[in-house]
Amino acid sequence: MGRIIACTGRGGTGKTTFVTLASRFIDLHPLLIDADSDQSLSDMLGVDLQEENIKTISDVLFDIQKHKDKDLDSFPLPEKIEYLVNSECVYESDRFDLISIGVKWTEGCYCAPNSILKNVIPSIARSYEFTIIDSPGGLEHLNRRIISEVDDLFIILDPSKKSLKNVERVKKISNEIGIVFKNIYLVANHRFTPEAEKYIKTLNDPYLGKIEYDKSLEEFIWSGKSLFDLPDDSPTYQSIRNILLKAGLIAKVHNI
Ligand SMILES: Nc1ncnc2c1ncn2[C@@H]1O[C@H](COP(=O)(O)OP(=O)(O)OP(=O)(O)O)[C@@H](O)[C@H]1O
Ligand SMILES: [Mg+2]
Repeated sequence: MGRIIACTGRGGTGKTTFVTLASRFIDLHPLLIDADSDQSLSDMLGVDLQEENIKTISDVLFDIQKHKDKDLDSFPLPEKIEYLVNSECVYESDRFDLISIGVKWTEGCYCAPNSILKNVIPSIARSYEFTIIDSPGGLEHLNRRIISEVDDLFIILDPSKKSLKNVERVKKISNEIGIVFKNIYLVANHRFTPEAEKYIKTLNDPYLGKIEYDKSLEEFIWSGKSLFDLPDDSPTYQSIRNILLKAGLIAKVHNI
């Protein structure tokens, strides 16, 4: 299994920005997983999955429920799902591959496919040296448990008491549902003041630094341009590089 990196945090803290720009440093053709139903990761990557005729995993599960895949009727369900996900849900490019989970599903709905899915994602991730997961805001997504062993969890914080409390809740819920993180890293988003940063440093988990603000990043997102084209001297891009350096991912990242 390659290294599994995940990003979490409250709504709008900058998770998708972090995942997109971090993936530019991962030189080894990472697998990117968009676990957010609003699919902003593909937007920031500049990929139109619909235009590319790539399905989300939810689409495939719906197709199976509606028996749209009659040719595969003789396959046992796990093989059927794995086959369909591999053949219909992986967007491939020179720099990365991308899988989108699609609309919300939680423990309980489509339970058979759901439990199988827990094996499918790790099984696909096994053939990549790096997998990076972008999560929706909040913590409900943890219940989907698309991967239960994560090497590096980056928690992107905004400067609020709720955000800081969120760190302990992530750990508590993960523990309850059996998700294991080898490393948990705290990252401040662009709204942090030096004063608020001092506070994070007093918390138990390692603080890796602040993601700097970049006005041009907002313009890129607004106009739908790929963040892969954001200039290397962008303060946001450079600060994410420093964060990855501190996380020990530098051996695998570009030296720019
Ligand atoms: N470093 C930054 N500099 C300037 N603007 C930023 C920066 N990071 C995030 N933003 C702004 O905040 C918005 C939200 O960022 P992003 O989509 O990455 O957050 P998110 O945590 O993934 O949100 P969600 O919880 O909705 O998935 C962006 O559209 C952008 O306008
Ligand atoms: Mg997001």
